[in-house]
This record gives sequence, C-alpha cells and structure tokens, in this order.
Amino acid sequence: MLRLEGVDAFYGDLQALFGVSLEVPAGGIFALVGANAAGKSTTLRVISGLVASRHGRVLFDGEDLARVPAARRVDLGIVQVPEGRRLFPFMTVTENLLLGAHTARARGERDATLGYVYRLFPVLQERAAQLAGSLSGGEQQMCAIGRALMARPKLLMLDEPTLGLAPVLVGRIFETVRTINADGVTVLLVEQNVRQALTLATRACVLESGTLVLQGAGRELLGDERLKRAYLGL
Ligand SMILES: Nc1ncnc2c1ncn2[C@@H]1O[C@H](COP(=O)(O)OP(=O)(O)OP(=O)(O)O)[C@@H](O)[C@H]1O
Ligand SMILES: [Mg+2]
Repeated sequence: MLRLEGVDAFYGDLQALFGVSLEVPAGGIFALVGANAAGKSTTLRVISGLVASRHGRVLFDGEDLARVPAARRVDLGIVQVPEGRRLFPFMTVTENLLLGAHTARARGERDATLGYVYRLFPVLQERAAQLAGSLSGGEQQMCAIGRALMARPKLLMLDEPTLGLAPVLVGRIFETVRTINADGVTVLLVEQNVRQALTLATRACVLESGTLVLQGAGRELLGDERLKRAYLGL
C-alpha cells in the first residue's frame, strides 16, 4: 500500500531522515519505533506531505506522491493523528469530529461514520456537547482518533497515541487500534511503548538517528538482541 524508497528529509540545513526505505503492506498494523528525535514524526510528516522529501520517493497504491499536496493525500485516504492530539479546545466533541469529514468522499458518509466512531468510543457520545479542551487526556486521544476516522482513512497514521496516558488507558488505545485494523484500515503506528507495539504489529521497523536500522515481523523484532538491549532494558 505504501512504499518509501531512499527518503531524505530536512528541516532547513538539519537532515532528519537518511535514505529511509520501508514498505507498509495493505491490511496490517505497521509499527515504527525508536528513541526521541529518531525521526519517527518526520517520517509520518513526509508521508502526509507536511514535510517534503528531498530525495527518494513515496508511493501510495503505486502512485508517486511527489506532486500530491497534503490536502489531496487525505482525499486518497492517508490520514494522520498528530503527536499531541491537536484538537480545537473551544469546540465541542461533535464539532471536532465533524471537522474530520471535510473531504468529498467522507462527507457523503458523515452520519454513518459518526455512528461508527460513537460505537467505538461510547464516552465521546456521552460527551458530545462538551468542549474538547475539557476532556481528560485519554478522552482527547479518543477524540483525535475519532476525528481521523471521520475522514475514512485507508491508511491511518497514529503518532504516539498513548503518550502520557495511564496504563489502563494505554491498553484501551491498543485494543482500539486492533479493532480499527480489523475493520479494514491499515495502521501505521509510532510508539514508545515498544513491547506492546511490537506485540500488536504485523510488521515493524526501528529508526535510529534518522536511519532505518531494523525491519521485520513485529514478533521477530521482539526477539532481536540489539532491540532488547536498546529499548526493552533486557
Ligand atoms: N519543525 C522542526 N524544525 C527543525 N527541526 C525539527 C523539527 N521537527 C523535528 N526536528 C528535528 O528532526 C529530528 C527528528 O525529529 P522527529 O520529531 O521526527 O523525531 P521523533 O522520532 O518523532 O521524536 P519524539 O519521540 O521525541 O517525538 C530531531 O533532531 C528534531 O530536533
Ligand atoms: Mg515524534
């Protein structure tokens, strides 16, 4: 579904990605793990078109995205839940969710998708008229995921969805990711909960200082000695 071929990315003179190549097959959960500043968010931004790649190619369903602007990529089905949720705090939960359905493709199915999101996260329906800024951290993350689902993604990219959440909520979010995937959405998940992410993922890769150092089946990486030492404290 998605292929990166030798992608370099820069912020001004600072190079954040060095020849990153990876392949996300349709239908699975792909985990992208690595330490702080490894380039995980940058990779997602290159895919969603918020950061341009200077070399290399990004292909989605075989189409080269080089000339496809970010807004059009959402139309194609590439939808990102950004790091830090980025809700509109002074708008209600429902208003935030409906904003996700802005593409022509999603607009026609808006009410049905809203029903799906409320079934997935009943607490959002209970809080429908509440301002998003007054939700708990976990509820805000659910609202951010719900807003992304409103765009009817084919590829849903989640940037550290469990950051700052209590362990019980971390489990809930991982369960929800599994459900969303089972409902037919391919998932690209950036996580610092390495063990849980690799357990959930069909495939995974590890980024270090902007370079991809490992790629393979999720459970296979869990057994990798180098990864165990670096990320699992074993
Ligand atoms: N907007 C920006 N302007 C300049 N440099 C940036 C910008 N965003 C990220 N960087 C730099 O690019 C590198 C990769 O950052 P990135 O945010 O992709 O890392 P990350 O793996 O997502 O880290 P974290 O786990 O902390 O979120 C870092 O050195 C970071 O300082
Ligand atoms: Mg990040």
